[in-house]
This record gives sequence, C-alpha cells and structure tokens, in this order.
Amino acid sequence: MQIENINSICCIGAGYVGGPTMAVIADNCPNIKITIVDLNEERIKLWNSADLTKIPVFEPGLKEIIKRVRNKNLFFTTDVENSIANCDMVFISVNTPTKTKGIGAGKASNISWVEACTRQVAKYAVGKTIVVEKSTIPVRTAEAIKTILENNSEKNTSSGGCSFSVLSNPEFLAEGTAIKDLQNPDRILIGGEDEVSIQALKNIYLNWVAEEKLITTNLWSSELSKLTANAFLAQRISSINSIAALCEVTGADISEVKKAIGLDSRIGQKFLNAGPGFGGSCFKKDILNLTYLCQHFGLPEVSAYWEQVVRINDWQIYRIYKMVINKLFGNVTNKKIAILGFSFKADTNDTRESPSIFICRELLVEGAFLSIHDPKVSSTQIGLELGDIGEENKSNWSHSIELEETFDNADAVIILTEWEQYKKIDWDLVASKMRLPSWVFDTRKIVNLEEIKNCDINFWQVGLGDNHI
Ligand code: NAD
Ligand code: UGA
Repeated sequence: MQIENINSICCIGAGYVGGPTMAVIADNCPNIKITIVDLNEERIKLWNSADLTKIPVFEPGLKEIIKRVRNKNLFFTTDVENSIANCDMVFISVNTPTKTKGIGAGKASNISWVEACTRQVAKYAVGKTIVVEKSTIPVRTAEAIKTILENNSEKNTSSGGCSFSVLSNPEFLAEGTAIKDLQNPDRILIGGEDEVSIQALKNIYLNWVAEEKLITTNLWSSELSKLTANAFLAQRISSINSIAALCEVTGADISEVKKAIGLDSRIGQKFLNAGPGFGGSCFKKDILNLTYLCQHFGLPEVSAYWEQVVRINDWQIYRIYKMVINKLFGNVTNKKIAILGFSFKADTNDTRESPSIFICRELLVEGAFLSIHDPKVSSTQIGLELGDIGEENKSNWSHSIELEETFDNADAVIILTEWEQYKKIDWDLVASKMRLPSWVFDTRKIVNLEEIKNCDINFWQVGLGDNHI
C-alpha cells in the first residue's frame, strides 16, 4: 500500500531537536498523531511535567506550543515498541557525538545510537514505514540504515511483511531561535529516491511551509549539505574572530570592519559577530566529522583546510582566558571573578561545548573564586560541566541567582553569553561594588562603550581590546 498522507509519526529522541521539531509539526498538523520516544525516563518525565517551566529544553515560544498540543496530538513516552509499531513515519533524532575511542576517535561521528534505533525500527515496524534521518550523520549513513532495515523486511510474513523507505531531512534550526526557525525555515531539505515517500514528507511541511522552500536532492547531497552548512557558518565565526584579534593589536575596531565588509551583498552582515569562540553541540563535531570523511575519501588537503576552523576556535577561547590572566597581573589566586553567562549562546539552557566551560575551569585551577550567573542554566548543570577541578578548587565557585550580588567585591567581570539582561547593566553601580582596580571583559561586544568609559572600571572588549582608553 502506498502512503501519501501520514497519520502518525514516531520520533526517536526527545532532545533539543526532537522536542521542538515535533512540537511545531504537531501544532501545524492537528490531524497527525505524534509520539516522541526516548530511553531516558527522566527526560520524558520532564517533558510530561505539569509545570511547563520544567520541560527539559528552554526555547522561547516552546512551552506555549507544548501547552497547546501535549496529550492532544503530541505524546511523550518511553514505550519504543508500540510507538514504532503504530506509526507510518519514524524520525531518527538521536545524538551523534564525536567518537571517543577506536578508529576515528576525536573526529568521526559515533553513529551507534542511530544504528541502535534503526534496529529497533527494524524489529517493531509494521507494514510500510518511512524512516527519516533527522540527526546529523556522516555522508552515506542512509546506506547503513537501509541495509539494516532491508535485512528485516521479510519478518512478520503472516501479516504481509514490512517495507521501508529511507529519507534524509536534516534540521537547520539554531538553538535560542528554534521555534522561529521551524515556523519559518529558509528551506526544507529532503533527500531520497522514493518519490511517494518524498511526497508524503513534503505534504507534512506543506501545512505551513511554502512549496518553493521545499527542495529535494539525492540522499548523499542532503546528508553532505547539512555538514557543509555548519562548516560554512562556523568558518565565518572563525574568520571574524581571527580578524578581531588583529583589530585588538592594530587599533582597528571589529564593529567597523564588520559593517564595512558586511555591506558587500556577497558577504552580508549576518553571522559575523566576534565572540569568545563558537560553542554548541554541533559545529565542532560536524566539522571534525567532515574532516574525517575527507581523510577517509583520500582528501587530506581538504581535511586540513576545514580543521583550521576548529583550531582557530580553540585558540580564540584560549587567548581570551590568557588575556584575562595577563590583565590581572598574571595572578588570579584568591581573586573573585564574576562570570556572566554559562550557556553557549543566549536564549538556551544548553551548555554543550560552551566557551564558558574551558574559561571557568582554567580560572578555577589558577586559584580564582568564581561567581557564575546564568538566567537559565542550573547549578547542577554547571557542576556537571566543570567536572573534576580538583579537591582544593571544588568549592571555589558559586552559582549566583541574583545578578546584582554577582559583582560584590569582584576584581573582574567576564561577559561570556549575550543574555539580554546583561545589555542593561548599570556599570556605574557595578563599579561601586567591585574591588579596585577592577576589570570588565566583554567577549560578546554587548557593552556600550559610551556607558562604561567614564566609570571607574578598566574595560576590554573583543575586537577592540582596551584601545579606547
Ligand atoms: P540530544 O542529546 O539533546 O537528544 C538526543 C536524545 O536521543 C537523547 O534524549 C537520548 O536519550 C535519545 N536517544 C539516544 N538513543 C536512543 C534510542 N535508541 N532510543 C530512544 N532514544 C534515544 O541531541 P540533539 O541536540 O537533539 O541532537 C540530535 C541530533 O540532531 C544530532 O545528530 C545533532 O547533530 C542534530 N542537530 C542538532 C541541533 C541542535 O540545535 N541541537 C540542530 C540541528 C541538528
Ligand atoms: C547551529 C546552526 O546555526 C544551525 O543552523 C544548525 O542547525 C545547528 O548549529 C546544528 O546543527 O546544531 P546553534 O549551534 O544552535 O546552531 O547556534 P548558532 O546560532 O549557530 O551559534 C553557534 C555558536 O556560534 C554560539 O556559541 C554562538 O554564540 C556563536 N556565534 C554565532 C558567534 O560567535 N558569532 C556569530 O555571529 C554567530
């Protein structure tokens, strides 16, 4: 039987992609029943919690959608078997982190979670099932998925057997703007061979996305486009950060350079904000995956080219840390440093690969006391990310709930995340609470120079340095 309209979807993986993506589909497609399954019971419990401030992913606009659709046509469960058996389409939305051991360790993506859930689909699917890769995966992963599924398509012969079709439908949402991105995507990319399945997936998106935004390619182009998009985006950040460093030593101002180059319509203004280095769960892992693939396919020069994007990023984080130490006379022992922001960007509670982690860890190891503020990240999460910092340092940080208290007797403030509330800080007031000589390090370029230059504070800003004094 050919499926043209999908009545039920199962999404495997209730994370930062699975949750928001399915919520937006459910909101726009009230006739489709969507079940999100995850092996992590705690996560599912939180998605089902009556108090919507407790859902595990913070995204502006998400809880309002969850309120509308949860237990109407969107369900969260750990029941993998029934969720797969009762659906027409399965989205694989599980994590694909960098391998930590074996061949390709440190670069290649670990697709063991993708393989594990493919085997679950093979085991429990009934009738025709369309399997959609939503996770970001190495090129040609669809081949492995197909092979696993085809080896199982003869089962259940009494009920007519089961059949599968595999599509690639990478996700381009950015955290912090996930709902906006999903509601109004630049494009929806679908890679595949089976026209009927492609049309079935298109029909879902056509409920709210204009047809001209739906583009189709072969499977491998779709898989590779996702890695390439992330590599190009990250490359822009490493490019602007490298020029920011040059600005700081030459007297140029990165804001002015950004404006001047961005007005060239071929370059454009977007994604050119200098910062402490990119964080997030994907840029680094996806570029490293790309470099591994290039090496695997005999293209070492291409691999080295993209690897440099990650190296510049690591260097940017390190140079900011080193600069802070230098400005504080090469010594932070027993100094109090206020850290503003722990998430990898504003408007998300995600801390994965956040530059704050490295900077805070190193400062603690150097002997500093940290007062860490973030409006959405919990102290448990901060503690988990800081990991083992040594017995002697483990009580040298505190999670500051009230922003105002963060500055009391601090020697320095480091702004690491561009949360809106940090843009409204009264620096005169802050100066009166800090110990002299005090420093503010703005790695996000959110402090207005005019508002701070007459305060009794030394000021450093990314892409400007302290050249303004
Ligand atoms: P995540 O870690 O937040 O969520 C993945 C979830 O999958 C976890 O809750 C985990 O318990 C679950 N899971 C793993 N194996 C399972 C199995 N066999 N059965 C059921 N559940 C299982 O990850 P994420 O940030 O949502 O990313 C998922 C994928 O999407 C990754 O490949 C990532 O590269 C890609 N992606 C992420 C983003 C983003 O902004 N986070 C954007 C685009 C693409
Ligand atoms: C990124 C991409 O933007 C998404 O398209 C993609 O789907 C996603 O990765 C993914 O595959 O996971 P995300 O990491 O959520 O999204 O957020 P971004 O807005 O891209 O920011 C990434 C990092 O770059 C953040 O640390 C951010 O602060 C930094 N950044 C971003 C800059 O330093 N400067 C900029 O101009 C933009």
